Amino acid sequence: MYLRLAEPYELDIVYLMGFDVWGDGLSLDEYLSCCRNSGKYFRGTWYVLVEKEQVVSALIVYSGTFGLQEGSFGLGSVATPPTLRRKGYGSKLVNLVKAELFAHQNCEVLYLHSDIDQQFYKRLGFVSVEGSDCMYIASDDAEFKGSMPDYF
Ligand SMILES: CC(C)(COP(=O)(O)OP(=O)(O)OC[C@H]1O[C@@H](n2cnc3c(N)ncnc32)[C@H](O)[C@@H]1OP(=O)(O)O)[C@@H](O)C(=O)NCCC(=O)NCCS
Repeated sequence: MYLRLAEPYELDIVYLMGFDVWGDGLSLDEYLSCCRNSGKYFRGTWYVLVEKEQVVSALIVYSGTFGLQEGSFGLGSVATPPTLRRKGYGSKLVNLVKAELFAHQNCEVLYLHSDIDQQFYKRLGFVSVEGSDCMYIASDDAEFKGSMPDYF
């Protein structure tokens, strides 16, 4: 199992991983069209977790946007295809991305906005910013002292 950047031809597969929760009543084609033209997605970098040549989970990473200051990164749109959920892929992906950003991309603090019970991310070491859906983890385990980024 390993982490890599998503290839452009894989993006539809990546988008469809979250269709059941983010589809918002759209048809599959409408949803894909929204994703392909999403200004938000253009601002990020997609990572995928691969097992046996199959993409099994994906997320997007942002920096230099959404109020993320220097050394701050954000991750979002974490999704695993419905049939592959609860096998540990989502957790593995978040952990690998976190390790990659801290080790190789001068990341000091990594933020996310949780749409789900924060427990999932707490288990991975993220800390809640009180009274918000925002969570963070710092490379040096420092306490939260920055400014909260916008929703992404
Ligand atoms: C959240 C998600 C990415 C987890 O991926 P995964 O590959 O199943 O991750 P793991 O197997 O490592 O972890 C499974 C855990 O996710 C958590 N989880 C998944 N969906 C959840 C939800 N809607 N609410 C709260 N926790 C949830 C649970 O803690 C679950 O553990 P459990 O099986 O013991 O209940 C996946 O459920 C998904 O794609 N959901 C739809 C998109 C989404 O909501 N993404 C989160 C955006 S913040």
